Amino acid sequence: MSGMERRGRIAKRVSRFGKSAIHEMTRLSKEIDDVAFLSWAKPTSDTPEHVKEGAIRAIRDGLTAGYSETLGLPALREAIVAKLARDNGVRATPGEIIVTVGAIEGLSAAVMAVVDPGDEVILPTPTYSTHIRQVELAGGKPVLVPLIEADGFRWDIAATRAAVTPRTRAILYCTPSNPTGTVFDEATQLALGALARQHGLMVITDEAYEYFVYDDHRHFSLASVPDLRENVIGCYTFTKTYAMTGYRVGYVHAAPDVIAHIAKVHIPFAICAPVVSQYAALAALAGDQACVADFRAHYLAMRNLMCERLDRLDHVFEYARPGGSYLMFPKIVRDGGKTDSKTFCLDLLREARVSATPGVAFGPTGESHLRLSFCVPESEIHKAFDRMEAYFSAGSPRGR
Ligand SMILES: Cc1ncc(COP(=O)(O)O)c(C=O)c1O
Repeated sequence: MSGMERRGRIAKRVSRFGKSAIHEMTRLSKEIDDVAFLSWAKPTSDTPEHVKEGAIRAIRDGLTAGYSETLGLPALREAIVAKLARDNGVRATPGEIIVTVGAIEGLSAAVMAVVDPGDEVILPTPTYSTHIRQVELAGGKPVLVPLIEADGFRWDIAATRAAVTPRTRAILYCTPSNPTGTVFDEATQLALGALARQHGLMVITDEAYEYFVYDDHRHFSLASVPDLRENVIGCYTFTKTYAMTGYRVGYVHAAPDVIAHIAKVHIPFAICAPVVSQYAALAALAGDQACVADFRAHYLAMRNLMCERLDRLDHVFEYARPGGSYLMFPKIVRDGGKTDSKTFCLDLLREARVSATPGVAFGPTGESHLRLSFCVPESEIHKAFDRMEAYFSAGSPRGR
């Protein structure tokens, strides 16, 4: 099919999108043997046994062939309500929860429910690229406010305030952040919440990495503030917490009148979340939570190792130590901080057999960075950094 034909037959809101740099790197990485793989943000551990058993039991008991209620299994929504109270300080009722196809479908449905064509949505840059696409798919205009990298990718509240216009409808961010690993603290989020109340905006939070915070950082859920209940839509997932990427199950929490509108989007998107996965999610919440602490301990150790190894490459990279998630976002300083991140990552892949994601995929201020994932075994980090040390060694042309 020619380009002309394609333009005529495919909607502009989709045809103008380029390929996702994240998936493109993954595809290219698969063409090369024995790659050290630091470019994919999914847990590499297997799903805990009690979660798998929950799914298997539900299948054997004949519970998974049909749809569930659109909002999700009542027992699962009860368990989510208990979890939100225990771990997030959020007082919810089952009627305020929709079980979704991962956090992604919840975010998409939330954005669709809130954003009209031409509306503006404020996001930080760098940020999770899918958020930007979700806004564009809804016909909205992403307004990207740079984080202050020199201060550990701190949120710039003054710049955010200045970015609000009569068309602004929402603020959308993830904490801990993909790709920077920044944990936006309580004071920062309260300032965003105050802006939202002042201007009648929605704050859509993506809390996918809520359990993976380190050092003295604490995860804070903005919906825990009673005065902000009407302004916050919180999106959560089982993907990261329980290594359940392929199960595709998460949930959204919002005030009942908002949930009713998001549910109207959830039906044409999904009807309901996969029922077998909802039973697995129920088993995840009901079972021993030691697996979550184990994952966290592993990611913390891998974060420390990756930082140590990066310290030995300080002629190539500078970095802010991530306080959360299992991702970090070093800046390429070798060429005076003006490196084309796509070319850099392609060279790194082809010449050093190390796969990383180009920073430009995460917004304009992501250029000259790369995203590295530390949700991998220790051996993978050593393999990648041994190769990078040789590649960037003082004797090599890349080391200069
Ligand atoms: C910030 C963030 N939100 C959402 C997702 C996707 O979550 P889910 O698998 O629950 O759709 C990811 C996956 O990488 C992510 O990094």
